[in-house]
Amino acid sequence: MGAMSTYDLPRRPRRLRQNPAMRALTAETRLHPADFILPTFVADGIEDKREIASMPGVYQHTTDSLKALCHEALEAGVKCVDVFGVPRDEDKDATGSVAWDEDGVLNRNLRALREEFGDDLLIMADTCLDEFTDHGHCGALSTDRFGNEIVDNDKTLPLYAKMAVAQAEAGAHIVSPSGMMDGQIAVIRDALDEAGYQDVSIMAYSAKYASKFFGPFRDAVGSSLTGDRRTYQQDPANIRESILETQLDIDDGADFVMVKPALPYLDVLREIADMSPVPVAAYQVSGEYAMMAAAGRNGWIDFEETMMESLVSIKRAGADQIFTYYAIEAAKEVR
Ligand code: PBG
Repeated sequence: MGAMSTYDLPRRPRRLRQNPAMRALTAETRLHPADFILPTFVADGIEDKREIASMPGVYQHTTDSLKALCHEALEAGVKCVDVFGVPRDEDKDATGSVAWDEDGVLNRNLRALREEFGDDLLIMADTCLDEFTDHGHCGALSTDRFGNEIVDNDKTLPLYAKMAVAQAEAGAHIVSPSGMMDGQIAVIRDALDEAGYQDVSIMAYSAKYASKFFGPFRDAVGSSLTGDRRTYQQDPANIRESILETQLDIDDGADFVMVKPALPYLDVLREIADMSPVPVAAYQVSGEYAMMAAAGRNGWIDFEETMMESLVSIKRAGADQIFTYYAIEAAKEVR
């Protein structure tokens, strides 16, 4: 048996990489415009759309500019937009009550979008209180028996229920509880059904980590938070609890489950995709976008190409839907 020459290698994997047609023929993962969900920000009390400093190309919108953005998304083939409301500071309070006010910034704009788009574009509402509370936490606060201030799980649940019902009433096709309170899916499902909104779906932020990659988002929504969310969002060191959280959400009626952030948590995404009988979304968060945008601006990486690589990686790891601030550009790229 002689040494193997270059002519008798048993396998030549490079044969399938030799030109674009061959690579396209053999690609295992393909992005499609309908994979993407576009997160959007709509703000009260601004005259013109305003760029978010840490997220170049992403804006706080007025109702008009939000509608224009959504038309652009639809034309690019995107089927769903996720809407976050940014209230005026003076409208924030301890429970975030403007979140269930039908004239609050989020509900008003959900209504405007549903009127504009009907069922052509799916309208998802962010169902969380952090944008609306004056302390910036995702729920109501209480003092525990040792005198410590805590984010009170059970005091928050009925507030989420009211918020979800108001969003359904305003026309949201999908509500998306992102606050990581235990039991939030069951409580919201019951409240929606009781109010007659059996047709409204729930996108559950199931495996959501206490992540510093959310930094630019907090600029985007003018968050009032000081401190962190580690008593309710998951520890980045853990994966088992993601499976538990996801299973509980599925049992409680989640129509979709989600892993967030995306790129630093692809291992979590893979495990969830393997166990979930419902669609699994991944959220490419503000910090993921900001890092690539910033490095791109410095000429250190190619922003567009790294973005597309990152999105295909997220899909390869098991995402059925991908939330990305790059949704419109990505959809145009792959359609
Ligand atoms: C909370 C919420 C956050 C994001 C989406 N929903 C922030 C947080 O949990 O602090 C982050 C999204 C992003 O970083 O792009 N309602």
